[in-house]
Amino acid sequence: MRTSRPFRHRRTSSRTRLAALLTGVSVAAALLTGATAAHAADPPLRDLADAKGKAIGTAVTGSRLTGTYGEIAGTRFNWLTPGNAMKWESVEPSRGTYNWAEADRIVEFAEAHGQRVRGHTLVWHSQNPGWLTNGTWTADELSGLLDDHIATEVGRYKGRLAAWDVVNEPFDEDGTYRRTLWYDTLGEDYIAQALTAARAADPSADLYINDYNVEGVNAKSTALYNLVKSLKERGVPIDGVGLQAHLILGQVPATLQQNIQRFADLGVDVAITELDIRMQLPATQAELAQQAEEYEAVVAACVAVSRCTGVTVWGFTDSDSWIPDVFEGYGAATPYDENYAPKPAYGGIATALGGTTTTPPPTDACTATYTVTSQWNTGFTGQVRIACSGASLSSWKVAWTYGAGQRITQAWNAACTQTGTQVSCANAAYNGAVPDGGAVTFGFNAAWSGSNPVPTVTLA
Ligand code: G3I
Repeated sequence: MRTSRPFRHRRTSSRTRLAALLTGVSVAAALLTGATAAHAADPPLRDLADAKGKAIGTAVTGSRLTGTYGEIAGTRFNWLTPGNAMKWESVEPSRGTYNWAEADRIVEFAEAHGQRVRGHTLVWHSQNPGWLTNGTWTADELSGLLDDHIATEVGRYKGRLAAWDVVNEPFDEDGTYRRTLWYDTLGEDYIAQALTAARAADPSADLYINDYNVEGVNAKSTALYNLVKSLKERGVPIDGVGLQAHLILGQVPATLQQNIQRFADLGVDVAITELDIRMQLPATQAELAQQAEEYEAVVAACVAVSRCTGVTVWGFTDSDSWIPDVFEGYGAATPYDENYAPKPAYGGIATALGGTTTTPPPTDACTATYTVTSQWNTGFTGQVRIACSGASLSSWKVAWTYGAGQRITQAWNAACTQTGTQVSCANAAYNGAVPDGGAVTFGFNAAWSGSNPVPTVTLA
């Protein structure tokens, strides 16, 4: 049996790395936003993480890996996790009918950007297809289905994924096994069976058990500890534990680093696999600043333990976060806002990775963000978002200068005029008011040729 190994980055040739960087540059040139243009001066988190030999990852949605989303996912992070694309219901919605499109897309994107992939997830009680959960299976039948699923999925990506979350969320809060299809039919050995099948299907991938509310020392994390200890004693392949870290502002466990260390001392790697820090909306600047400190503390706890391989955030932008769908009234949990502007949390992560950030400190103000939302041969659609925090407006006017012949042809939710290269847009009768913590957006169509750089927008 292979014992678990310290984390290392798979070597990427300088040519691959250059190609990845160039890909990032050309995508960025094609579709920039004001937010990312300003952000370009920040040290990419992946460079900081690479220098420390750590992972900085993000969960992604395959269909969104273009434009600004793709540019940030591809250039700021060195690991990707498919948020949903590799779950059983995604890959085998009907028995024997496979759909690998989104999973393939993410793996190919990661390879093109010199990134590593964490497979997620093979055995879980949730997001299973109806044919599986509604079926009546004997232990032998279910055991066969489990082995086949793992052999098929892990085998498909053999040699291409760095790690797998093989078993997801096996415990209840009190540290007893969660009652699931797997546990109820196969007993606790479904875990050893899954790990063994995964190792057989891809000996090069690191194999993890992943759970939530196991970040600090508590009954659940101690149950996970005891399971890993026993698996290792029995010679079952286990390389690491994933601490999901879906945290609430103000509730980062004080024992996080101690807990990481005790798993490391058992001889397994530890990864923070799904970090987000949610808060009640609307978020204040003070809460975003506190969130930055907490992101920094979580990443720093990982950096402090050599067997902690790194941190993955569960979606890098608030526009791709599961939180608002599940926790009503909560959100703002990720390091970028919905408009892809880095939040103070981005700086917190960078600081923990040894960097500095040029992200301006939060100020009480209203700001305007210009975004190209889609672009084709001769035209593009843009939007400007005016957002206030710690301030408010009763009317607004924004202006910018086009540098490359762009010309606005139509605007909505604002009255826009263009004279030569000078554009000026004022609120419509119904959207002049921007409250503290609120935002308004207007859009426009425009023509372009040559290049389409992002202008600097001023708010009067
Ligand atoms: O794809 C359908 C879409 O066609 C449909 O219109 C829409 C209507 O609701 O639903 C879409 O599916 C949603 C799917 O995410 C993709 O967006 C599901 O309803 C929704 O339930 C699902 O939520 C996912 C959740 O797992 C399910 O438990 C989240 O995106 C995903 O981020 C989340 O991830 C889990 C980890 O895998 C394990 N740890 C906890 C974490 C958060 O729940």
